[in-house]
Amino acid sequence: MGRMFRIGIIGSGGIAGEHARAYKNIEDVQIVGVADILPGRADQFIERWGLKDAVGFDDHRRLLELDLDGVSICTPNVAHYQTTVDALRAGKHVMLEKPMSVTLEEAAEMVRASKETGNMLNVGFQPRYDPNMGMIKDLVQSGQLGKVYYVETGGGRRRGMPGGTFIRQDIAGAGAMADIGCYSLDLALNTLGYPKPLTVSAYTSNYFGTNPKYHGESSKFDVEDFGVAIIRFEGDLVLNFKTSWAMHMDTLGATMFLGTDAGLKVTPAGTGPWSGVWDGRVGSISMFHDIQGHHTESSIPLVHHQLNVFEEKIKDFVRALREGTTAPIPGEQILRNQAILDGILRSSLTKREVEIQVD
Ligand SMILES: NC(=O)c1ccc[n+]([C@@H]2O[C@H](COP(=O)([O-])OP(=O)(O)OC[C@H]3O[C@@H](n4cnc5c(N)ncnc54)[C@H](O)[C@@H]3O)[C@@H](O)[C@H]2O)c1
Repeated sequence: MGRMFRIGIIGSGGIAGEHARAYKNIEDVQIVGVADILPGRADQFIERWGLKDAVGFDDHRRLLELDLDGVSICTPNVAHYQTTVDALRAGKHVMLEKPMSVTLEEAAEMVRASKETGNMLNVGFQPRYDPNMGMIKDLVQSGQLGKVYYVETGGGRRRGMPGGTFIRQDIAGAGAMADIGCYSLDLALNTLGYPKPLTVSAYTSNYFGTNPKYHGESSKFDVEDFGVAIIRFEGDLVLNFKTSWAMHMDTLGATMFLGTDAGLKVTPAGTGPWSGVWDGRVGSISMFHDIQGHHTESSIPLVHHQLNVFEEKIKDFVRALREGTTAPIPGEQILRNQAILDGILRSSLTKREVEIQVD
C-alpha cells in the first residue's frame, strides 16, 4: 500500500461521527487523533468508532502537535475560528464544517491564515456534490435565463428546531439563518458565480424557540428561529433570503432565479416538519419561459443518483490532499456567504440596512 493520509478530528459530537464514518471508508486514510474540549469525550468517540490508531486529547493544540495531513473541524460554530487558525498555522489542511464562522472578521482571518501558510481551507457544503446542483448552475450560467436580476432562496421548516449547542448565542453564534440558511445561500451564490454583496437589510425573531409551548429548552434559546433579508449585489441583482426553523405555514417558497428571458424554480425534496429547507436534495426543477408567444413551464428532468453527498465531500477533501490541489470549496469564496450572514446579524440588531465590506 502507498502513502497513508493522517487525519485528526476536532470536536467529537454528532457530525464528527459522519466524518469518521466517511474517512473509515477511504483506504489510504487513517484517523490518528481526536480532540474534544469535554474531558474523556474524545476517548469515548475513539472507542465508539473503533479508531484503533487514534489518540484522544482534551485540547486541540495537543492534537495539532501530531504529524497530520489534515483535520476535520466539527466543533460548534463559535469554536471554528480558533481551531481552524491554529490548525492552519500548525501546518495542517482543514476540512471545516459549516457555517464557516460567526463573524466576517473571523472568516477573513481564517482565509488570511490559509493564504499565508499555503494550507487549504475547505468548507463542507455537501449539497455541492449533488449532480442536480451542478445542473442548476450550468442552466443559469448558460445564459438561457438572460440577465438574472432577482433571486429568492431559503425555505422553512414548519417545526424543526434543534436544541443543545445550536440554540445558544454564546456557542452557535447565530440561529436558523446561519445553521441551515448557509446551504441555501451557497446554492444561490454558487449558481450565480459568487457575486459581490453590497448591502443587507434583515429582520430576525425567535418567537417559537423562546416559547415553552414549542421548545423544551426555551429558557436557553437566544438565537433566531426565523429570518428574512434583502441583499443587494454588484450588477443590479437582488436576493431575497428567508429561513425558518419554525412557523405556522407550510412553506416559505421555492428557490427561484428570475431572468429577463426565463425563470428557474427549484423546490427542495422531502416531506415532514423538518423538511422544506434546501439541504441538497432537489424535488423538482422547472423553467418558465415564452415559447412562440406561449407561457410555458418546462420540467427539467432530475439527475437520479445513489451518491452519499456527505461521503463525497470527505472523499473530495482527501482527493485534494492526495493530489496537492487547492480546496474544492475554498474559504476564500465562502467569505462572501459569511459576509452576508454577518450583515444579517448587524442589520437585525440595528434594524437598518447595513453595508458589506468584503473583497
Ligand atoms: N454538514 C452537516 O450536515 C452538518 C450537520 C450537523 C452539524 N454540522 C455542523 O457541525 C458542527 C458541530 O455540530 P454537532 O451537531 O456535531 O455539534 P455537537 O454539539 O454534537 O458536537 C460538538 C462537539 O465539539 C466539542 N467542542 C466544543 N468546543 C470545542 C473546542 N474548542 N475544541 C474541541 N472540541 C470542542 C463539544 O464538546 C462537542 O462534543 C456545527 O458547526 C454544525 O453547524 C454540520
